[in-house]
Amino acid sequence: MLDSYGRKIEYMRVSITDRCNLRCRYCIPDGIAKVPMSAILTYEEITEICRAAVSLGISRFKITGGEPFARLGCTDLIRSIKSIEGTEEVTVTTNGQILHEYLDELKDIGIDGINISLDTLDPERYTYITGGGRLENTLRAIELSVDSGIRTKINCLIQRGFNEDEILDMADLAFRYGIDVRFIELMPIGAGDMSKGVPGAEILEVLKDKYPDLMPDTSRHGNGPAVYYKRSGSDGAIGFISAIHGKFCSSCNRIRLTSQGLLKPCLYYENGIDLKPLLAEGEDAVREAMEKAISSKPKEHHFGRQDETEGRSEHRLMSQIGG
Ligand code: 5AD
Ligand code: SF4
Repeated sequence: MLDSYGRKIEYMRVSITDRCNLRCRYCIPDGIAKVPMSAILTYEEITEICRAAVSLGISRFKITGGEPFARLGCTDLIRSIKSIEGTEEVTVTTNGQILHEYLDELKDIGIDGINISLDTLDPERYTYITGGGRLENTLRAIELSVDSGIRTKINCLIQRGFNEDEILDMADLAFRYGIDVRFIELMPIGAGDMSKGVPGAEILEVLKDKYPDLMPDTSRHGNGPAVYYKRSGSDGAIGFISAIHGKFCSSCNRIRLTSQGLLKPCLYYENGIDLKPLLAEGEDAVREAMEKAISSKPKEHHFGRQDETEGRSEHRLMSQIGG
């Protein structure tokens, strides 16, 4: 359906848990407050909401967390969303630490893509930035995912003074595996310190120095706001998701569902519509509330602005919203 600015909303990010098996320093360095399972949507409830979404023309879903595979039975949920008539695509975002356990099943379900977060290729840095993760697990997951023929993407966050020296090595993964490597700008969410973010344009300059043949790639890569570049004769592509320095709100096509059932029209604003109590009333009530949320979608975010006059900015953590 269209929002009040004429944007076609066709994609929903679905966070199924705010728990995570990592403690990334820009996300949840100290962990998260525990939410009782009773406050979290059941898989049946999530499927119900997705069904209502499909009836509104929202037919592409991204399963996120926290870490989605940290919630038991995640693949069962993916299977049921895939089987809703009219669903066009279900993809998942993961840190890859335990992904290898689920790859066969995901392949069997027909998952449409896996995004794997990876900021560094240095084992010690990886353990540091993720608060205890093991690089080898995620590297293995990437290789297995690529080998199994699943559309695989890497999400990389470059921070000033931490991994700026790895821009080229991270980009090379794209050409080595023939996949998309996307550089995501750090946002002031969770423990994200915006002053450490490196603008996408700066990363692009570094890459162009080494690869003068890097050219804009206008073909469609997914549902997101990433801007892509490719090299002639090479399969992989480099993407930039520059929420701060390359504001893409005018083409925003998404809404977000938190694991507690809040439907958020925009990542930036705290407000949303609580779908959980409406589930007992049936699909029509859920659909109406969703329509309302989409109609109230704001024009744009105001990350980085000092005076937040147009409503309060988000204080939830990225692990609670699902990115
Ligand atoms: N800004 C941008 N991206 C973030 N992520 C977590 N916190 C932030 C933040 N403050 C990203 C991780 C991962 C995805 C799940 O969310 O890098 O790729
Ligand atoms: Fe977990 Fe992702 Fe947050 Fe890292 S960024 S702690 S992997 S939710």
